[in-house]
Amino acid sequence: MTEGIADFSEGQYYDVFDPSLGVSDAHRVGLENEETGAVARIRDFFLPLIQRSSGGRAIRVLDSGCGNGISVDLLSAAGVEAWGHDLSALRKWQWRERRMRKRLVVADAATLPFPDGFFDLVISSGVIEHIGVEERGNPRYSVTPLAGRDTLRAAYLRELLRVLRVGGRLVVDCPNGAFPIDFWHGDKAGGARWHSRREGFLPTFGEVERLARSADESARAVSLSARGRLRFQQVGAHWYGRLFAIPMAVLLRVMEIPGFRWLARSPLNPYLVIEIERRK
Ligand SMILES: C[S@@+](CC[C@H](N)C(=O)[O-])C[C@H]1O[C@@H](n2cnc3c(N)ncnc32)[C@H](O)[C@@H]1O
Repeated sequence: MTEGIADFSEGQYYDVFDPSLGVSDAHRVGLENEETGAVARIRDFFLPLIQRSSGGRAIRVLDSGCGNGISVDLLSAAGVEAWGHDLSALRKWQWRERRMRKRLVVADAATLPFPDGFFDLVISSGVIEHIGVEERGNPRYSVTPLAGRDTLRAAYLRELLRVLRVGGRLVVDCPNGAFPIDFWHGDKAGGARWHSRREGFLPTFGEVERLARSADESARAVSLSARGRLRFQQVGAHWYGRLFAIPMAVLLRVMEIPGFRWLARSPLNPYLVIEIERRK
């Protein structure tokens, strides 16, 4: 236990971070952008989703790979029993600033320190693509899938479904591997890059659905519109981001109309939001 934060990592973190060295200026800018994104992710998407689906009942939520942990403070302030976990030494250092530190745990997603069926809703934002791959950022962003990628990703979903109650929902979001541009993993914040399906990094809807079924054959996956989740905030600093934002806003609304919902799992959608129900 450090600063009220339980640490189950046994020193095996996802990253290498020395708190005595702090962060560089460039890194600090990236983390500040991430803070704005974390506030928007909860305020504009997950809190409304929770309010719509809970029908006023008290619910317990896990944010898996919660990053800076802001989600836990925000959801708690809105009356939700929110928990978060992450495996990063940098994140643990960031959590010193969180009010609800007692609900943040350093733990590997593969072995969560929670009992079966503990949560009504599990959120996983921008995490699954980072499981089972090796990424490098210097000087150019590059990523290579590991041999056991799919086994690791299925194990991740299996563990998230284990801590979810029967009838509960797991919401997994990530950039769509079927969309040819990746706006989230460029050489610098907001930088876009082309990528191919063969790269083996960003999953498609079909891949996540298959992984979820291999983790739990009763699981049922549907793809939702990312309206409210996708803000083009960082990429909007570039001309191509601004050009893209208007037609995308229209498309995200169209995906909500019955008869057009299939668009959310198609290659036209840059960002997947997949809701997976645990049925038994
Ligand atoms: C791109 S960040 C997303 C953070 C946060 N969900 C958000 O949307 O702001 C991915 C996070 O996943 C975490 N992560 C990656 N692999 C993990 C694992 N095996 N167990 C727990 N967290 C992991 C990383 O440490 C990182 O904080």
